[in-house]
Amino acid sequence: MSTPATDQYFPGLEGVIACETSICSLEGRGEGGLAFRGYSIEDLAESVSYMEAAYLLLHGELPNSGQLISFESRIKSARPVPEALIQLLHAIPPSVHPMDVLRTSVSVLAHYDPDNGAVSTDHAANVRKAERLIAQMATAVAYRERIERNQPLVPPRDDLDHAANFLNMINGGEPSETKRSAFDKSLVLYAEHELNASTFSGRVTVSTLSDIYSGIVSAVGTLKGPLHGGANEEAWKVLEQVGAPEHAEEWIASALARKERIMGFGHRVYKHGDPRARILKRYCTKIAAEIGDDRWERIAEPIEREVTQQKQLPPNVDWPSARLYHYLGLDIRLYTPIFAMARVAGWASHIIEQLDHNRLMRPRGQYIGAPPREIVPLAKRV
Ligand code: CMC
Repeated sequence: MSTPATDQYFPGLEGVIACETSICSLEGRGEGGLAFRGYSIEDLAESVSYMEAAYLLLHGELPNSGQLISFESRIKSARPVPEALIQLLHAIPPSVHPMDVLRTSVSVLAHYDPDNGAVSTDHAANVRKAERLIAQMATAVAYRERIERNQPLVPPRDDLDHAANFLNMINGGEPSETKRSAFDKSLVLYAEHELNASTFSGRVTVSTLSDIYSGIVSAVGTLKGPLHGGANEEAWKVLEQVGAPEHAEEWIASALARKERIMGFGHRVYKHGDPRARILKRYCTKIAAEIGDDRWERIAEPIEREVTQQKQLPPNVDWPSARLYHYLGLDIRLYTPIFAMARVAGWASHIIEQLDHNRLMRPRGQYIGAPPREIVPLAKRV
C-alpha cells in the first residue's frame, strides 16, 4: 500500500495539481489570466464566436472557415432532441429547478445517442457525443423554459447561430445584434475554466472508465451549487435586495456582519480580479446603454466598491453575467443552466482528455476519527 502524504493536506484541494492538461491555463496577460489552448481570453472574447471557441476546446486548434462551416452544420443538425425527452420535459413538475431538469435531460439524451454503444475511451465517438451535447443541452434548456411558461415550443432554426438560436427558442423572436453578440461572448467566457469543481467532478467520474454522459451529469450536478455556477442566480438576488445605489454600503456591511457570503464575489484562484468579469462588465454597460436603462449598473457599482473595500474581494464572472442575462430578458432560473450549456464544451474536452490519458482518480483522506477500538456486543451497548 502506498503511503499517503499526510503532511501535505490541502483543505479544499487548494493549489493541488490533480492532472496534466493542454486545454486551459490560468496564466495569461498579467496576474489572474485565462487562456484556452494558448489563446488569451481577452483575444478570444474579442475575436471568436462560441462555436469557434467550442471547436478550439474540443479539437485543439481554431477552425479554418471550412472546418467551422462543417462544425456548425453538425451542431445545427443535432439540435432537435428526442420526442421522449420533450414528453419528459412536460411531465417533470413545474417547481423543479431547471438545473435539476437539465441534469435529468443529459441522462436521458445518453440513451438516444447514436454512439451510445461505443466504449468510453473511443475518442472519435466521444467528440461526436460532445458535439451533440453542445447542441442538445441548449434545446433542452429552452424547451423546458417554454413549457414552464405555458408557451408553445419554438423549434431550433438552422439559419441562426448558437447564441441567436437559443435566444430565439426562449423568446420566440430574434435578438438585436448587440444582444446576440453579448450573449455569444458570455458563452465564450463561460466555456472553460481549467480544474474548477464541476470539471474536476466530470474528470473524476470518467477516470473509472465511465462514459462521457455520466461525466457531464456529474458536472451539471456540481455546477448547480451556489459556491460555483449557482452564484450567478444568487448574484442577481443581491442586486434586487440592495435595490438602490444608496443602500449598498449598509446592505453589504450588515450582510458581512452576519458572516454571509456576497454571491458573485471572490474566487479560489483569482485573488486580485477575474478577467472574465472585467470583459463582461463592458458588455453590460453597452447593453444598458442600448436599452436606455442603467439602473442595475448604477446599483452594481457601489456594491463592487463596498465588497472590495470592506472584504478585499473582487467580482467574479457571475457578477456581471447576472445583469447581462437580465438585460437579455432571461428568467433568473436560466442563469445557471446557461452557464452549463456553455461550459459543456470545456467539460467534454476535459473528459475526453482524461479518457485519452486515464489513470483512476483516487485520493486519500486524512483520518481524524476515533482510535482503534473493540466492538461492544449489542446487548451491552449503552
Ligand atoms: N463574501 C464574503 N466572504 C467571502 C466571500 C464572499 N463572496 N468569498 C470568500 N469569503 C471569505 C470566507 O467567508 C472566508 O472568510 P473567513 O476566513 O473569515 O472564514 C474567506 O473569505 C475564505 O473563504 P474560502 O471559501 O475558504 O475561500 P475560497 O478561496 O475557497 O472561496 C469561493 C472561493 C468562490 C467559494 C468564495 O469566494 C465564495 O463563496 N464566493 C461566493 C460564491 C461565488 O460567487 N461563486 C462563484 C465563483 S467564480 C465562477 C464559478 O465558479 O461559478
